[in-house]
Amino acid sequence: MLLDVQDLHAYYGKSHILHGVTFQMPEPGIVALLGRNGSGRSTLLKAMMGILTPPRGSVRLSGQELRGKSANSICRSGLAFVPEERQVFGNLTVDENLTMGIQPGVAGAPHWTREDMFQYFPRLRERRNQMAGVLSGGEQQMLTVCRSLLTNPLVILIDEPTEGLAPQIVDVVAEVICDIQARGVGVLLVEQKMSMAMRVARDVLVMGHGAIVFSGTAPEMEERADVRQKWLEVA
Ligand SMILES: Nc1ncnc2c1ncn2[C@@H]1O[C@H](COP(=O)(O)OP(=O)(O)O)[C@@H](O)[C@H]1O
Ligand SMILES: [Mg+2]
Repeated sequence: MLLDVQDLHAYYGKSHILHGVTFQMPEPGIVALLGRNGSGRSTLLKAMMGILTPPRGSVRLSGQELRGKSANSICRSGLAFVPEERQVFGNLTVDENLTMGIQPGVAGAPHWTREDMFQYFPRLRERRNQMAGVLSGGEQQMLTVCRSLLTNPLVILIDEPTEGLAPQIVDVVAEVICDIQARGVGVLLVEQKMSMAMRVARDVLVMGHGAIVFSGTAPEMEERADVRQKWLEVA
């Protein structure tokens, strides 16, 4: 079992946000995590990553318990996170930002090189000596994805990577996500663009009010107009 999340709870202060989230990713796949704004998707990723401390539940990666570890330690254990807000070091160059990401990775994890990143995103190669702070928002987003991949994770959590990107770049990001999975990394993808999510993901989780309200394959989801209406479409 690659990833096994059981009965995970999370709070912001006294606000109880995650009410016992349970799901599994048996082997490296692409799982889309869908839901309306405020349903708790980002909170789930932060709780898995140790940015929030879940008081209850379990997050197992390849059998190893991650709950209770620090975010750094969770990262070294093979879980990577691309947050919604771009996280680049603006006064370091693109190359230096990539170097910051590099970690040996856990045994058996697919291995990535700087050259792989430049093949995915040639713009980053062109701008490798420029300060990351002068990149466009889309380029900063790509750089954030690359830095996370260079940690050589078993599973990567990606929060709304295509937000604000031009359609052609959305296609590139979709291809990269498919390639990441093809090379053996599990991807948990929060994606607001339903068409993009359904194009890349084999499996779908839907969150509502801090719990998983639907779990199935993408084709199963396509058939569930009731689920889409109740939990996804904006009235
Ligand atoms: N830093 C925070 N402090 C307090 N409440 C928060 C914070 N971040 C998010 N929330 C609340 O937690 C709930 C889930 O938010 P979030 O996980 O960001 O949803 P999503 O990513 O699905 O849009 C929302 O009700 C939101 O208002
Ligand atoms: Mg969010």
